Amino acid sequence: MFSFWCLNLTYLVSGSWALNMASNNRTDLNLLGLEIRRPVVDLCLRRKAFRGLHNVHFLSVNANVDLTEILSSLQNLAVPIDTVTIQFPDPHFKSRHKKRRVVNEGLVSCIAKFTSQIGSKVFLQSDIEELQCDMVEHFEKSGYFDSAEGYDSSKLGQNLNPFGQQTEREIATYAKGLPVFRMLYKRNMKPYLDK
Ligand SMILES: C[S@@+](CC[C@H](N)C(=O)[O-])C[C@H]1O[C@@H](n2cnc3c(N)ncnc32)[C@H](O)[C@@H]1O
Repeated sequence: MFSFWCLNLTYLVSGSWALNMASNNRTDLNLLGLEIRRPVVDLCLRRKAFRGLHNVHFLSVNANVDLTEILSSLQNLAVPIDTVTIQFPDPHFKSRHKKRRVVNEGLVSCIAKFTSQIGSKVFLQSDIEELQCDMVEHFEKSGYFDSAEGYDSSKLGQNLNPFGQQTEREIATYAKGLPVFRMLYKRNMKPYLDK
């Protein structure tokens, strides 16, 4: 039943990407959207109920604080994570706020730990090139993730969205005629080493 679990970090504006993904008659697909702002999550839950969807859920959490507990609970329930998406994550894009960015060494290490042996995919996209490069650098430096087939980290502006479903920020970025930078990784077989 849980053959495709997609964990959607820092997802939400009003949940459209996850709701649309879950709506497409994908009974094999289960999505979990994580968002720090409670009112946004409440809106997403109302939209989910309105659409009568049972394969998507939203949690109000801080991905940088709560991810280990969430992934550990899923692991205890024997739920494999097929895909993690981190899409337009960050309000803290300026260099002076670098330490407060969502994608940092700890977050990448946590994802690597709970996707070990599964071959999970990680999809990253942003409209801010410097931020996307920073996310890419963290995933590559970890040594736990390889470029997925057809994706090239030296051509971030040319890589495609693999889902055929755009997020709200993605739609807004294209509406302004601006580019989107993307990368897709696959967890390799390197065993996770606790630091
Ligand atoms: C620019 S919006 C992008 C929303 C959506 N992914 C899209 O592409 O349309 C970034 C979202 O990430 C959320 N966010 C920022 N830091 C977070 C964190 N540490 N944990 C969970 N959500 C976070 C913000 O509240 C905001 O809703």
